[in-house]
Amino acid sequence: MNLQDARILVVGAGLMGAGIAQVAAQAGHAVDIFDTRAGAAEAAKAKLAQTLDGLVAKGKLTADAAQATLARITPVGALTPADLAIEAIVENLDVKRALFAELEAVLPATAVMATNTSSISVTALARGMKAPERLVGMHFFNPVPLMKLVEVVSGLGTAPEVAQAVFDLAGRWGKTAVHTRSTPGFIVNRIARPYYAEALMLLQERAAAPELIDAVLRAAGFRMGPCELMDLIGHDTNFAVTNSVFAANFYDRRFTPSLVQQELVDAGFFGRKSGRGFYRYPEGAPALPATPGFDKPSAKRLVVHGRGPVADRLHAALPEAQRDDASDWIGLEADNTQIRMTDGRTAREIAAERDVQAPVVVFDLPLGEAKDLAYATSGNFSDPVAWLRALGFVPREMVDVPGLIVARTIAMLVNEAHDAVQQGVCSEEGADAAMKLGVNYPAGPFEWLALWGAEPIAALLDRLDTFYRGERYRVSPYLRSSAL
Ligand code: NAI
Repeated sequence: MNLQDARILVVGAGLMGAGIAQVAAQAGHAVDIFDTRAGAAEAAKAKLAQTLDGLVAKGKLTADAAQATLARITPVGALTPADLAIEAIVENLDVKRALFAELEAVLPATAVMATNTSSISVTALARGMKAPERLVGMHFFNPVPLMKLVEVVSGLGTAPEVAQAVFDLAGRWGKTAVHTRSTPGFIVNRIARPYYAEALMLLQERAAAPELIDAVLRAAGFRMGPCELMDLIGHDTNFAVTNSVFAANFYDRRFTPSLVQQELVDAGFFGRKSGRGFYRYPEGAPALPATPGFDKPSAKRLVVHGRGPVADRLHAALPEAQRDDASDWIGLEADNTQIRMTDGRTAREIAAERDVQAPVVVFDLPLGEAKDLAYATSGNFSDPVAWLRALGFVPREMVDVPGLIVARTIAMLVNEAHDAVQQGVCSEEGADAAMKLGVNYPAGPFEWLALWGAEPIAALLDRLDTFYRGERYRVSPYLRSSAL
């Protein structure tokens, strides 16, 4: 099956439909666009003409190419025959099912039907169709012309050659397609849940302010912190997705929505679009306080503990320190003070387990070039920041909760990705590509796994699980077996 020269019908001329029509027409396809709202298809084409003019003005497109693209798009007043119909109509199961019944009557028997749904089961949408094998999910991301990812979603009845034809087509449109099975949230919306959920959990526990959570995750390489990102997406939308993934997983507690976000939604504080979310707009997040200068501390005994990239980084910052590669923790020992990378225990837990009465500092997982770094202390440390400054960080104090911010977030993203792979939702490469291209993560979950290691991640989650009880931090069986 080959859709290379397919005539395309886009149904729904809203935000997504207009973008899909643009991308298909730019790739050379003849595209009909239909919307039940009178004038919507024409308006989408008029808006596209403006967008293309803008691209010509910026020198990104020739005037001829813009003209040709526009000429390929035809607003139509009824469903028309096509080789591929892509729907981007309202997110409602019954309305979409009715559309596919109509499409089956209009399209040739060989045609492929695709849905851009982000939350409805493709398997359920295909129920009742004459040819359920011809329905596939083609999940684009907003804005369609810019976002590179397309999740190709196979329902239980989808024919493999139909999914492959759509996969190949997306590739020809300049996208990176990733195969996925029709499961709640598909790849991106599922694996990304902990990015929001862990921030909301920390806020609920009053462990750190939103601007601190955002700053340390940005320092770890994320383009936006979770709080500013939720403000941008809109708490109404983000909360609705979380609720739908929660319900679709039979209320598995690990997907439990947050009272913190519920309250924002109740208040109508949806984020940027309503002028207030976690932050007020247009100001946005308040800047973190500047860190004062410091005097490099001294110690009689200075040892960098542990192996791997973090220990190497610490040693590069303090080359005068001895090295204990055999140690079972990562960090710096300065006389009897331990400054340790989090292993999922709080500073107080570690201090209580030590023989000596001495302070303990735990610091977060430093990813990438991270400077801003969260830390917590066991409470009796006279100058907690000086050694962290000496190690090259900008230390940001938070409440002593297990797993701090970056470490618990990354561990949970890795864990969710393992469940997804084990359950056949996607491949490891697919998970990495989807998270990097669909939500701009600085690395994929399996790349983080390679860096940090399955065993420490599983151990950290086990400690969170012990601390909090409940289902949220249970380790994926696949991660567990990788950690053995
Ligand atoms: P939208 O509200 O901008 O556009 C939907 C359009 O469909 C409207 O113009 C409406 O008049 C039209 N429509 C409704 N029922 C119709 C029918 N029976 N036949 C023909 N046209 C009909 O919505 P948007 O954001 O473009 O979303 C469309 C679909 O794409 C939804 O399924 C949504 O879940 C999905 N999606 C949305 C994303 C987003 O970021 N907005 C991202 C990925 C998927």
